[in-house]
Amino acid sequence: MTKLDDSTTRDSARLIVLEGLDGAGTTTQTKRLVEHLRTKGRAAHATREPSDGPIGKLLREMLTGGHAIPNAAISQSTFGLLFAADRLDHIQREVDPQLAQGAIVVSDRWYHSSLAYQGTGADRDWITQLNARARRPDLTIFLSVRPEVAAQRRVAAGRVQELFEDLRMQEEVAAGYKATLAELAAAGERIETLDGEATPDQVFAAIVALVTPHLGASVALS
Ligand SMILES: Nc1ncnc2c1ncn2[C@@H]1O[C@H](COP(=O)(O)OP(=O)(O)OP(=O)(O)O)[C@@H](O)[C@H]1O
Ligand SMILES: [Mg+2]
Repeated sequence: MTKLDDSTTRDSARLIVLEGLDGAGTTTQTKRLVEHLRTKGRAAHATREPSDGPIGKLLREMLTGGHAIPNAAISQSTFGLLFAADRLDHIQREVDPQLAQGAIVVSDRWYHSSLAYQGTGADRDWITQLNARARRPDLTIFLSVRPEVAAQRRVAAGRVQELFEDLRMQEEVAAGYKATLAELAAAGERIETLDGEATPDQVFAAIVALVTPHLGASVALS
């Protein structure tokens, strides 16, 4: 873990993570939160996982059907390894340098996603180990939407064809998140759950209300 060496920012939220099912609104709200922080005069940096680094690019290719293996799905264990490698590369290449410059970093997904998506079965402890060196977020916001709502949004956005198949997957991931968030909260992580089924403006207002008290005394609050 990276040491915090700036006493003026020691108690403030520096790495903020947004998590949720596919379609929960994490990309929408990451962008809005970073814009908001900038209007408040804070340096803020939006990022995402998979990252825009080399391993993240490979992951995106594989997740959209590239590098396919004939007649077989690429194993979830392979994805678990690549996501963990991408995360450490993302931290070294992008997140830590931004934090060192004093920026608040807002990431669209973090290791909670690995645990919820790849860590539900026999790989659980192994995935946890692979992520043990990744920086813990100062604040994680989980946008809670029912699996059927997430699936419907994805169909409406043209991202999936088959509603029923997607719904089954979203239900599994939702169960994965439930276990993961409980475990990480018990380990001391600050995790807040918001109603992701509210309108985008309402979700955004709730995020601002959550984040503002954690920004440190130097920030104007309104
Ligand atoms: N609060 C909301 N209410 C209704 N629709 C929303 C809300 N937030 C986002 N959407 C819509 O749902 C879709 C998914 O939003 P977004 O891309 O932000 O979600 P995401 O969690 O990043 O999804 P993915 O995991 O697939 O990247 C988009 O079409 C977006 O416009
Ligand atoms: Mg997204």
